[in-house]
Amino acid sequence: MSKTIAGFSKLSKSKKIDWIANTYFANAENTKAVLKQYWNDNEKLQQLHDEFIENTISNYYLPLGVAPNFLINETLYAIPMAIEESSVVAAASKAAKFWLDRGGFKTTVISTTKIGQVHFMFHGDYENLKSFFDTVKQKLITEAKPLTKNMEARGGGILDIELRDKTADIEGYYQLHASFETLDAMGANFINSCLEQFAKTFKNEALLFSGFSEEEKHLEIVMSILSNYVPECLVRAEVSCKVEDLSENKAISGKAFAEKFVRAVNIAEVEPYRAVTHNKGIMNGIDAVVLATGNDFRAVEAGVHAYASRNGKYSSLSHSKIENGIFTFWMEIPLALGTVGGLTGLHPLVKLALELLHKPSAKELMSIVAVAGLAQNFAALRSLTTTGIQKGHMKMHLMNILNQFEANDAEKVILVEHFANNPVSHSAVVNAINNLRKE
Ligand code: MEV
Repeated sequence: MSKTIAGFSKLSKSKKIDWIANTYFANAENTKAVLKQYWNDNEKLQQLHDEFIENTISNYYLPLGVAPNFLINETLYAIPMAIEESSVVAAASKAAKFWLDRGGFKTTVISTTKIGQVHFMFHGDYENLKSFFDTVKQKLITEAKPLTKNMEARGGGILDIELRDKTADIEGYYQLHASFETLDAMGANFINSCLEQFAKTFKNEALLFSGFSEEEKHLEIVMSILSNYVPECLVRAEVSCKVEDLSENKAISGKAFAEKFVRAVNIAEVEPYRAVTHNKGIMNGIDAVVLATGNDFRAVEAGVHAYASRNGKYSSLSHSKIENGIFTFWMEIPLALGTVGGLTGLHPLVKLALELLHKPSAKELMSIVAVAGLAQNFAALRSLTTTGIQKGHMKMHLMNILNQFEANDAEKVILVEHFANNPVSHSAVVNAINNLRKE
């Protein structure tokens, strides 16, 4: 029977597990054994993971795969990907190999500006507020100096602070809309600390501002927080080649393939139902690298999808064209990433992933991640517009079905060989396992 508990976070780990296992599970001992299976015997490492969050009762593993042969701006990469979906790493590897022979991927970091806002309410004369803001703006920056001086020494910091009038949306609502350059850090802590300092200075100085009426002096800070919408932290990734070079076999000419591919992208540009799935395919690549490199995939997801709707309708992130016999496929995507700070210096596998990527700067990581997204999208569209997605997908899914039926190693060898030449479906695999076991 479920019940509430007070002070759960203060219990020891084993007491937490006891309570969960006894309260929610029919077989408490089995539950404890499953949770324990995923602990690390290395106590220090386990403690590190326990301390990432509150109330840890086990570790949740995802496979870490590698997609090699990515040529990006003339440098070769093997890209680490943390993901559970069967076909993603294989698809990325295939796309990497395809473009390796056709000049590789090219990227440009267009901009790296991040945004944070202090949201506040002011019910007075806008001209008074404006003149207060102009008076206090420099002080906002100066009083944040203890927070910004290290970042400034490295070439980053606060870029600007604007006063924004949002009263057309909500009566009395204004913002301090600040822009930041955070270099190799994702910058969430830096930006939020600066914003909270701005809010403090702004509120204190308002009380002292002689241009305000008594009422105007008491403006209300609602909240101070960075924005995960980063349309000015943008990277472009691109592939291109002669149309005839797209052909790999006689089944479809380069021209026919290019035309079909462009049509598929066009559909995602105009049709939101398709655009969401199209972009989901892009995020298969992006999230996997973002996660492997210890970055915040929820922030990236939120920002990317907002960007995909920036023109008022959800649309494709990628685009494609054929011009003068050249096929071009590209994407511009907002990515706020870090290669220092956060998990990047803490999680041993994240450190390893970054070393595998030649210890990239944040800009280089933006390029790598965007390429992983574009490659994934290319692989998906290539399958969808030629063989269909299920052929490759089910091949990769075969092992999941075999594992579901607890096939042993010998059975796996026989069945993988069998399905190399036979179509994979759930029922076909079940039949094949049953037949084999009957023999
Ligand atoms: C599956 O995870 C992703 C795809 O659906 C993407 C797409 O349809 O473009 C294959």
